[in-house]
Amino acid sequence: MSAPVVLRVIEFINKAAGIVLTTEKAYFIEARLSPVLREESLPSIDELLTRAERGDRRLAQRIVDALTTNETFFFRDKAPFDHFRNIIIPELISRRPPGKAIRIWCAACSSGQEPFSLVMILDELKAQLGGRNVEIHASDISEAILNKAKSGTFNQFEVQRGLPTKMLLQYFQKDGDNWKISQDVVRRVNFFKFNLLDDPRSLGTFDVVFCRNVLIYFDRPTRAKIFDKIADRLAPDGFMLLGGAESTFGVTDRFASHPKERMLHLPLARKAAAIPARTA
Ligand SMILES: C[S@@+](CC[C@H](N)C(=O)[O-])C[C@H]1O[C@@H](n2cnc3c(N)ncnc32)[C@H](O)[C@@H]1O
Repeated sequence: MSAPVVLRVIEFINKAAGIVLTTEKAYFIEARLSPVLREESLPSIDELLTRAERGDRRLAQRIVDALTTNETFFFRDKAPFDHFRNIIIPELISRRPPGKAIRIWCAACSSGQEPFSLVMILDELKAQLGGRNVEIHASDISEAILNKAKSGTFNQFEVQRGLPTKMLLQYFQKDGDNWKISQDVVRRVNFFKFNLLDDPRSLGTFDVVFCRNVLIYFDRPTRAKIFDKIADRLAPDGFMLLGGAESTFGVTDRFASHPKERMLHLPLARKAAAIPARTA
């Protein structure tokens, strides 16, 4: 792949998804796009890009699907899920009237392990929730990975990562070489395509936003804009959770830390626009 084509791919994925790739990633780009060329019977990455740039949305989506990194696993990093169980849900139950739904958004859900982990925790907390409605909305930019999430199908390796055996036996059934999570669990998650670069206002207000292990792929100004949008979408007493390598520090002043747990980010109101000083 020639250097100018590498640069065009880098520009394309940055515009389409906010993802920052550097020229050292040329091998990665080639490895990820080669299967697309074969499947689409296209002669070169140059041709694939040209068609996507000229408006072939299906091919543009194929490039995005190929260049996103979908690494995830059940109960990833454990602590955020412990905080969800031990701090977030109890606090929300104590503050919200019983008739009001609790709304959760997994903003880069990949193949679904994150929202499915939340469903399993909510089942454990059924008695505490006392019939309260908890909505789980889960989005991703990749259509291919969302289709996998909606299928609820996982291979042996995936169910061995982070998932307690008790939950494997309780929620999954063997399906050939794979495992299928119960349809009841799949139905409790509203999967939809959403690009974090887009305006999320139509999604409504959330009590909890999981935005984990996706901002690492973006530059600082993009992260700042996304933090702003999430802060605006959160209830004033809502929570945001990030990945282990992600932080608001030096990027945004729209969040404070929870007094008991600094990994829980609490939204702050947008500062009133500065009133211009009067000139005589
Ligand atoms: C590494 S996975 C993280 C999955 C999960 N949140 C976790 O922590 O395990 C990152 C996900 O972000 C998605 N992604 C990348 N850019 C995105 C964007 N602009 N909008 C929405 N999702 C995006 C990718 O498709 C991928 O599935």
